[in-house]
Amino acid sequence: MTTSHRTALITGANKGIGKETARGLAALGITVLIGARDAERGEAAAEELRADGADVRFVTLDVTDETSVRAAAEHIDATFDRLDILVNNAAIAAGPRKPSETPAATVRQVYETNVFGVIAVTHAMLPLLRRSAAARIVNMSSELGSLTHLADPGSPWSAHSSILLPYCTSKSALNAITALYADELRAEGILVNAVSPGYCATDLNRHTGIRTPEEGAAVAVALATAGEDGPTGAFLAEDGPIPW
Ligand SMILES: NC(=O)c1ccc[n+]([C@@H]2O[C@H](COP(=O)([O-])OP(=O)(O)OC[C@H]3O[C@@H](n4cnc5c(N)ncnc54)[C@H](OP(=O)(O)O)[C@@H]3O)[C@@H](O)[C@H]2O)c1
Repeated sequence: MTTSHRTALITGANKGIGKETARGLAALGITVLIGARDAERGEAAAEELRADGADVRFVTLDVTDETSVRAAAEHIDATFDRLDILVNNAAIAAGPRKPSETPAATVRQVYETNVFGVIAVTHAMLPLLRRSAAARIVNMSSELGSLTHLADPGSPWSAHSSILLPYCTSKSALNAITALYADELRAEGILVNAVSPGYCATDLNRHTGIRTPEEGAAVAVALATAGEDGPTGAFLAEDGPIPW
């Protein structure tokens, strides 16, 4: 690897928006590591993207399993010596249920992936990202995490948010985490942003979304490859900032 060649890790990249983010980054000549908890699904996605002539590889990564996270970091260290781009994409949802009928255990389960998983992966990858000349962290968030929207019963997202407490609040937490990491890492030139892909047809929403996963991936690809004057500590959709 030359000093200018970039390597990206995307969590939960075996399908959906993560896979399309992988495709988009690989098309720019970036070596892409497909993080997936299931080897068969991860390898199949990597193979599909390699068919385009891209350098795409599978890495075992269950974001809720510290041993798996550590092993992925050790593998990247041994193979590439550094990491340039981390896209925290893996997420799950639970519901639909009213907030008052949502067990704490369900919220905890969603947070394990969507919140604690992001923190665990980010911590494990930070030493590798710090060796990059232009490290970027992109956290795949959602408009459903916007406190401005959640506090507005008339918001266009209220039909979804009113029955998805674990998912929505996990993305609110992710937004807060993004802001704090961005603040800490700003002086080191590591740009950290939260993005919203829009409502895309994927397994997460039983394909009810109105955008394609490829359209959803575009904002993540843009932020993952932003120049040194790019934003940090922002919450962005394709067409601009989203209210926190
Ligand atoms: N679709 C939308 O409209 C929409 C809107 C806003 C934000 N988002 C966000 O976009 C991101 C991608 O979602 P998507 O719609 O593409 O969903 P998806 O098709 O369900 O993909 C989710 C991915 O996360 C992986 N994953 C789940 N738990 C994991 C774990 N513990 N470790 C590693 N990987 C794990 C899944 O792997 P398996 O195949 O093994 O389950 C899958 O690859 C998520 O952060 C989501 O919140 C989506």
